[in-house]
Amino acid sequence: MLFKLLIVFLLPSDCPGLPFYNGFYYGNVMNDRSYRNGNGEGFFNGVKLVVETPEDPLFTHRGANVTLPCRYHYEPALTSSRPVRIKWWKLGENGAPEQDVLVAIGLRHRSFGEFRGRVHLLQEKERDVSLVIHDLRLQDYGRYRCEVIDGLEDESGVVELELRGVVFPYQPPRGRYRLHFHEAQQACEQQDAVVASFEQLFRAWEEGLDWCNAGWLLDGSVQYPITRPRQPCGGRGLAPGIRSYGERRQRRDRYDVFCFSSVKGRVYYLEHPEKMTLAEAEEACQKDGAHIAKVGQLFAAWKFYGLDRCDAGWLADGSVRYPVTRPRPNCGSLDPGVRSFGFPDKESRKYGVYCYLQS
Ligand SMILES: *[C@@H]1O[C@H](CO)[C@@H](O)[C@H](O)[C@H]1NC(C)=O
Repeated sequence: MLFKLLIVFLLPSDCPGLPFYNGFYYGNVMNDRSYRNGNGEGFFNGVKLVVETPEDPLFTHRGANVTLPCRYHYEPALTSSRPVRIKWWKLGENGAPEQDVLVAIGLRHRSFGEFRGRVHLLQEKERDVSLVIHDLRLQDYGRYRCEVIDGLEDESGVVELELRGVVFPYQPPRGRYRLHFHEAQQACEQQDAVVASFEQLFRAWEEGLDWCNAGWLLDGSVQYPITRPRQPCGGRGLAPGIRSYGERRQRRDRYDVFCFSSVKGRVYYLEHPEKMTLAEAEEACQKDGAHIAKVGQLFAAWKFYGLDRCDAGWLADGSVRYPVTRPRPNCGSLDPGVRSFGFPDKESRKYGVYCYLQS
């Protein structure tokens, strides 16, 4: 589902000028994308081992169970089966280290780290060594290598897994440009999200994200997406695009952050007779058997469930927002988006609350 939407926020300082930018424009990134998952082939004794994985990325969402297809065969075909060892690992990208996922010999397998207990081989048919991952997490997107080891031969293929999600810029209550890189990671986690990758920000920009404050990305670079060039955001002369400050010093420089979240569970505006303080709002959600929603959860509900509500409500971080998919008079700007009132006085009784129910 592609949204051609502009995300517009009502913040006190509407699009403050940026101190500098390098005008980098990533217009051709999508064309340059290469998937290194050519099918692997290897020879032994005149027999070729061939590993097959899909060329196209798989798209799925958080919480899903997904199967990463991988099969192998021999050419010419062998009548007897041969013992092989299978290894799945996740490629290190975007500053993340390579991770072992699973190793299998026959029916025995072992999984590692974050994947322990969440993965197994499908093994529905002979020579099908597809990997099943349960209860996908936000960090699970990326490229996975399926390696088949037959004696001295080993061949592999790559499967790319992408999560459907939403990218949103985040500023903490203390204001603009306050986060070192590791604080940015914590800030996203507290919103039930992770720091967005460049690819995720790029996709969000294609879908219309326009934001005039620079934020950290997963690879340690600092960038911002512009769909409508204008004077305070790098000038009118530049083409729309993602503007980059390049890599910044992670412990010294402070920016906002772009977070990535994906849908899991349900967000709703609590029908409640009175407006509440932040503490009362938290309590009201708990009484309703839920929790006060986090920013990432509200964005995901807006994007994936079309949550549309013209009532401003508290969120867990103390911000007040409301999601609009069908813009209309007296409901903020004319673009769809999650509107923000920033971080009002926690004691003020002017707002309702958005609650989150885990599925
Ligand atoms: C994933 O698989 C588990 C175990 O088979 C099952 O209990 C769960 O409902 C599945 N989840 C989804 C989203 O299909």
